[in-house]
Amino acid sequence: MKRGKKNSDAGDPVTKSDTRTGSSELDAARPSLSSMKSMGLLLAVLMVASVMFSLSVVLRDPPSDDVVESDASSRVLQIRFHQAMDSDGGLSEKKEKEKLGNINVPRFDKESCLSRYEASLYRKESPFKQSSYLDHRLQRYEDLHRLCGPFTRSYNLTLDKLKSGDRSDGGVSDCRYVIWLNSNGELGNRMLSLASAFLYALLTNRVLLVEPGVDMADLFCEPFPNTSWFLPVEFPLKNQHNGFDEQSLLRDSGNTMFAYRHLVRDSTDQQKLFFCEKSQVLLEETSWLIMKAENYFVPSLFSISSFQQELRKLFPEKETVFYFLSQYLYHPTNVVWGLITRYYSAYLARADQRIGIHIGVSDTGNDRYQHLVEQILACGIRHKLLPEVDKQRHLPSSQVLNRKSRAVFISSSSPGYFESIRDIYWENPTVTGEIISVHKPSNKEYQKTQRNMENRRAWTEIYLLSCADVLVVTSSWSSLVDVAYGHGGLKPWVLINAENGTGHDPHCIRARSMEPCSQTPRFHGCKD
Ligand SMILES: *[C@@H]1O[C@H](CO)[C@@H](O)[C@H](O)[C@H]1NC(C)=O
Ligand SMILES: *[C@@H]1O[C@H](CO)[C@@H](O)[C@H](O)[C@H]1NC(C)=O
Ligand SMILES: *[C@@H]1O[C@H](CO)[C@@H](O)[C@H](O)[C@H]1NC(C)=O
Repeated sequence: MKRGKKNSDAGDPVTKSDTRTGSSELDAARPSLSSMKSMGLLLAVLMVASVMFSLSVVLRDPPSDDVVESDASSRVLQIRFHQAMDSDGGLSEKKEKEKLGNINVPRFDKESCLSRYEASLYRKESPFKQSSYLDHRLQRYEDLHRLCGPFTRSYNLTLDKLKSGDRSDGGVSDCRYVIWLNSNGELGNRMLSLASAFLYALLTNRVLLVEPGVDMADLFCEPFPNTSWFLPVEFPLKNQHNGFDEQSLLRDSGNTMFAYRHLVRDSTDQQKLFFCEKSQVLLEETSWLIMKAENYFVPSLFSISSFQQELRKLFPEKETVFYFLSQYLYHPTNVVWGLITRYYSAYLARADQRIGIHIGVSDTGNDRYQHLVEQILACGIRHKLLPEVDKQRHLPSSQVLNRKSRAVFISSSSPGYFESIRDIYWENPTVTGEIISVHKPSNKEYQKTQRNMENRRAWTEIYLLSCADVLVVTSSWSSLVDVAYGHGGLKPWVLINAENGTGHDPHCIRARSMEPCSQTPRFHGCKD
């Protein structure tokens, strides 16, 4: 999908460099007289490149046997590449196509959502590959959404039937919808539940419409080309305050044109039965399914037997479900992308490695707090994510030959942890001589001031964490963390017993999956 990487090129330079574009250019040039000229040019370019390469090898820092380093420095190169391209007026269309594989780039207006085009410059190449069947189904979904999206002919017809209650043709229309109600709750939960709702729409050939709420349009680009996923404001089932009223939705659910389902733990029996085969069959007739959910209910979809075969085809690797859905759906808007890229460029881009730490425990209670800082460092040192500090030697870093650096990015609502960890790496040199910089983007006080800014910052933190090379988290029970590692395709290190401060060796364990793990399917009470 993305540019070839150095490892894969190592084997046979002749065949490997014979990429599609390269060979076609050469083919075209061969029969003409200008071939001599282009060969000459090519040679010159190759010579300059090899000189540059040797120079860069000579001028580089002392060699290191650390595998991480080569990976990271290649990404630094990517960033430089990106900056260079930017000053040239942006990436060329060809480069974009190469980078994005079979996502048909021209279907989107580039300027309206830069993150869609630039995201791959900020993270490692993914080891996971989307199944071609998922590609195909997403393409089909996009076609359906364009056909049935807001204010299309089909949408207007289906809506007219809902308004008039006209069931003369059985009330069934070509387009069926699932409307995702926005709880305006915690951003992580909303992202998890919306991704689940989209998968449900994909499985049932429905069109997903999103209640925008106060901030969805501010945070996320439109994911589907040439249409909108937002529910129009004039949708009839809303009350006079332009919101959905749960009580009246429940009351009117006798209307067979729409159904309302609230998918939470404490919902009524009728609502719970949603994940039963029978309910799914009944709902097939319903044009408008209105859904309220605040959790990741993909595991429950896997429990519905009629979906299982399709799910296996879509996601041969089960743990990649959220990763692919969120990479597909969630592109930061330009305003959020500005927050992400400015922060990244200022604090993280120059480091050879990026370590994300999410601390979901508040720093009240001095003992526990100090204990947790120690536990984080012990975990990092044990698993070689962070270097040890040397409290004996006081060698100024100008005397140290190792110029490697790591950036630690801390997401936490309490500033204390950040200050502690920063001070440890400021006051003491590391045994390896590496420079550790410690950063933290937001703090609580600021968050309180502006509602809008709060979720932009939350999305920024999720995104920056997802760009880390390694992730350490105090618990996997936070939806923000779930989304961060799921979106990044990372398996985090999870501290053991961080909440009650009793953690000891082993201080942390590697999560087994990158799928949001706090959510296992529950007993749904189905009677088959
Ligand atoms: C659908 O209805 C809206 C207004 O209700 C109208 O503006 C739009 O043109 C209609 N779409 C089509 C394709 O007729
Ligand atoms: C999508 O819209 C853009 C501009 O609005 C247009 O140039 C393009 O042809 C459209 N693509 C499709 C597939 O309709
Ligand atoms: C801390 O939590 C762990 C697991 O949740 C538990 O086993 C342990 O007993 C707790 N310790 C204290 C002191 O509460």
